[in-house]
Amino acid sequence: MQSTFASAQTAALPYFDEARSADVVNARMGEQTDERLRQVMSVLVKHLHAAIKEIEPTHEEWFAAIRFLTETGQMCTDWRQEYILLSDILGVSMLVDAINHRRPSGATPNTILGPFYVAGAPEYPSGANICLDGKGEPLVVAGRVADINGNAIPNAKLEVWQTNDDGFYDVQQKGIQPDSNLRGIFTSDAEGKYWFKSVKPRHYPIPSDGPVGKLLGAMGRHPNRAAHLHFIVTAPGFDPVITHIFTPDCPYLPEDAVFGVKRELIADFRKVDDVTVAERVGLRAPYWSVAWDFTLATAKTV
Ligand code: BEZ
Ligand code: FE
Repeated sequence: MQSTFASAQTAALPYFDEARSADVVNARMGEQTDERLRQVMSVLVKHLHAAIKEIEPTHEEWFAAIRFLTETGQMCTDWRQEYILLSDILGVSMLVDAINHRRPSGATPNTILGPFYVAGAPEYPSGANICLDGKGEPLVVAGRVADINGNAIPNAKLEVWQTNDDGFYDVQQKGIQPDSNLRGIFTSDAEGKYWFKSVKPRHYPIPSDGPVGKLLGAMGRHPNRAAHLHFIVTAPGFDPVITHIFTPDCPYLPEDAVFGVKRELIADFRKVDDVTVAERVGLRAPYWSVAWDFTLATAKTV
């Protein structure tokens, strides 16, 4: 009689049994399955079954987990991605980023992109002020873009974005903040230098009115991100850097809600109280100043 099993593997393990549950499921995979999908699904099934065996959930608990995932999906819209938020608070976004951006020592490290990046921000000349709502403590950000050997990288593009002094990105407050408030694109000069004006960033909560926020609360965690400015720095022939710089005085540095803080990204923000110096940059004293250099690694050719 001809076998009704899809493969010899399935034939060897056709029926469910608790001890070998993951093997039974994985044996069902068809022979034509794409190799990468086979690897991904078999690892996921193996670890999921191991977790369930360790947790031993009741039916009610398993249903609560399914309800949580359902609500997470229902919270997603064109502009709200609750699953990314879940990946962020579980440290998975940072882990995927770390695996994909192992850089030589000395290169500026990546950190989380976050959901509030918007392509097509306004391009500004050096020295422009990206703060359009006039709120917050003035800040000058200045530095240089260079390669790993210290050679200047001219014409690098620096995209910057941050929250306003109330802790919201412009896209979270359409009609309240001016469009493109606190975001812009700058270009490094012939010596690799850049500078612009902004305001000192403050800590702010990630969106916490959905299932991910409820989970954070249930786990005794707060939703706050340590105060930061976001950057994407790109130049032809170099690995693009998606990163932040953090203020050193933020109480949330060691407990950033999405694990985005890296020691190398904590900058030295200094208060400048010299009227003549302030006039030179077009600000009133006192203002904040941060010097920050970006070091780009050569793009991988494979
Ligand atoms: C952000 O830094 O903009 C961010 C990152 C992760 C989740 C939410 C916001
Ligand atoms: Fe942010």
